[in-house]
Parts: sequence; structure tokens; C-alpha cells
Amino acid sequence: MKARLVAAVLLVLAVPTASAESMKHLSKRVFELARVQYTHLDDQLGPAEFPRSLHPDGSLWKSKQNWWCSGFWPGMLWYTFAGTNDPDMAARADRNTHKLDGLIETPTHHDIGFQLNSSFGNAGMIAGIAPGPVLRDGALKLAGRFNPRVGAIKSWESGKRGQYPVIIDNMMNLELLMRAARYFQLDTLRSIAITHARTTLRTHFRDDFTTCHLVDFDPQTGAVVTKKTVQGYSDTSVWARGEAWALYGYTMMARECAKCGLTAESREFLAQATGIGKWVAAHLPADGIPYWDFSDPARPNTWRDASAAAILASGFLDLARQLDSQDATLAKRFRKLARRQLKTLASAPYLAKAGQNGGFLLRHCVGNLPAGSEIDVPLTYADYYFLEALLRWQEK
Ligand code: GLY
Repeated sequence: MKARLVAAVLLVLAVPTASAESMKHLSKRVFELARVQYTHLDDQLGPAEFPRSLHPDGSLWKSKQNWWCSGFWPGMLWYTFAGTNDPDMAARADRNTHKLDGLIETPTHHDIGFQLNSSFGNAGMIAGIAPGPVLRDGALKLAGRFNPRVGAIKSWESGKRGQYPVIIDNMMNLELLMRAARYFQLDTLRSIAITHARTTLRTHFRDDFTTCHLVDFDPQTGAVVTKKTVQGYSDTSVWARGEAWALYGYTMMARECAKCGLTAESREFLAQATGIGKWVAAHLPADGIPYWDFSDPARPNTWRDASAAAILASGFLDLARQLDSQDATLAKRFRKLARRQLKTLASAPYLAKAGQNGGFLLRHCVGNLPAGSEIDVPLTYADYYFLEALLRWQEK
């Protein structure tokens, strides 16, 4: 551990100026740092614990299996294994993935897609470990939340947020359905994912490709009851992570539809992702890191959200790859933007130094500002999508 810490510190000291550093060097530096940070973080966790963030006093904020982010932690370890080839990271990733055993037997929510895809899904894709029935059963459980009258999967239970609340974040969980449909030849799962994506496209988006956070539906008629925010600045604002989930979600659906020969659907979702991408590109600050809400009137004197930047960077790289053969100029523009985001995230003040930030990589994320929770802190999903984007950059 000590030798690795020294190695990481030396690598950090060897950083050329941000603009001169190659992406290869940057990537190596970040993955080395991840190995050191995550070893420290993992050593602080009990057998059923996951990291969530840091408390205001700097101590580690842990979560249990049912927290919507629990899968990101094993995913961060799988990505670090992919970026370093260190077998110790694979062993830690495997052990933390199995902390999610039994998840589908407990009451779940729409985020089961995030939880299982990032953990068991990555174990399959990165280490070739067969997921067993967990991805299939998890996908079936998620599909059980679909109401054909609404044409969407219910995000949260009925309550103060509505009768049938569907949030833009839910686009991300469709990846589990699309993958399970392919692995297990379950076409119904694919139809549900496509229907959900189309309903969301029709109901959540404004004419300029910005999205509201939550649409509440009447579960009997499928009519839209109300559109509002939960985690954004206002009902009509552009919450940065919501827009990031939208960009990533439609890009993923375009990719997954193309994989199974659904050309028309793939084009439809790619067009949506492209519209979102153009809006985001035109509204990001120069360094590529969005304010927590694009519409917060306090800008520039308000919080940035590194988590939204990381999700966007990963989404832009996927989008650029899909656009390469159709619009090379736009693909180049999106790739350049992702590169700028990654360079900013890999530099101060965003990237922590070895031994700091409680073992997380990124600082300055916002979880839920209106609720006064997780403001200007590290968050697992920021690290997860940051590492994913770096791996995608290497693959391009
Ligand atoms: N899915 C919840 C969030 O983005 O904070």
C-alpha cells in the first residue's frame, strides 16, 4: 500500500501541464490513483457496506445494499481492474459485487438497473464472469413495474411525488432490459424498454431538447398529470444530471437497438441524443463542467456538478462513435468536448490527491441540492462514469 501510494504521488508530481498531457498519460495517472484510493476505501468497508459519499465532517458516508447507488462501487472496482489489470482489483470487485447477492429478493425500485448492470453486468463484460440468473431476474423485476396504459416503468411508489412518477433518470435503467433481452432472448423486455423511451421522449422533453425531471401520469388513462422537478432548481429549469442521464440514456438506446438490427428505432433515439448533445454543448461553461442546474440564476456563483460532467463525457464518447459514419464533424465536436471535460476532471480542483477525499477520485458533485443533501461532495457515480469515459476514450 505504502509503495503504491508513493508511486501514485510520483505519477501525480510527474503531471505535465493540463493542456500538454496526453490522454494516455492522463488515463494511466487516474487509474493508478484509483487503485490507491479504492484500496483505502475498500479496507474501510464491512461485509455488507458500500461507500456513498463523505459526511460534512469528512468521515465516510456508507450505504447498504438497497441504496440506489450500491452497484457503482463494484463497478468502480471493475473499471479500475480494466484500466490497470491488477488482479487485486478484480478480487475486490468480485467480492463487492457479491455484496449485492439477494438484492432481487428484497423490495426494489427502478434503480435495480443501475445496481445490477454496474456490478454483475460489468463482471460479465470485463472479467467474463457469467452473471447467472441475476440479470434476467432483475430485468424481469424491473419490467414488472411497467404499466402498458402509461407506456412507462414506474420510478417511485405513489405518494407525495405523484400517482405514477416517472423520472428522466429511469432511461438509464433500460440498459438492463436491453442486455437481458439479448442474453436471454426475452423480446418483451426490449419492447418495454423501447416503449418507455418513446413515452419519455414524448412527455418529458421541451422543444429545445431539455428535459424536466419528473412526469406524473394517471395510471388508469396514461394521461400526463403534472411535470415537475425534484432535484433541480425549478419545474422549468434544466437540472444538469437529468440532462446528462437523458444524453447517455438515448445514446445507449440507439446503440442497443442498432445491435439487434432495429435501425429505425436506433435512428430515432440517436436523433434525440444528438439534439440533447447540441443543446448541452451550447450551454456548458468553457471547462466543460456544468453548474448543478443549467438554469440556476445564481450562476456563476453556484455549485458545479462533476457527476453530471462525468456522465456527459461518457455519453458524448458513445454518441461520437455512433455519429462517426454519419456526421464526422459533429462526432469530432462531441469527442473534443468529452476530452475537455476529462481533462478538467483529471485536474485540480476536481481530482483528489492520493490519500485525500476519503478514497474517492472526484470532488465537487451535487446529489440533491433542494433537499440539502450531498452538496459539493464526492459521489460514487461521478467516479464510475469518469472511469468509464476514460476506458471509452482508450477504445475509440
Ligand atoms: N437518480 C438520482 C440522481 O441522479 O440523483
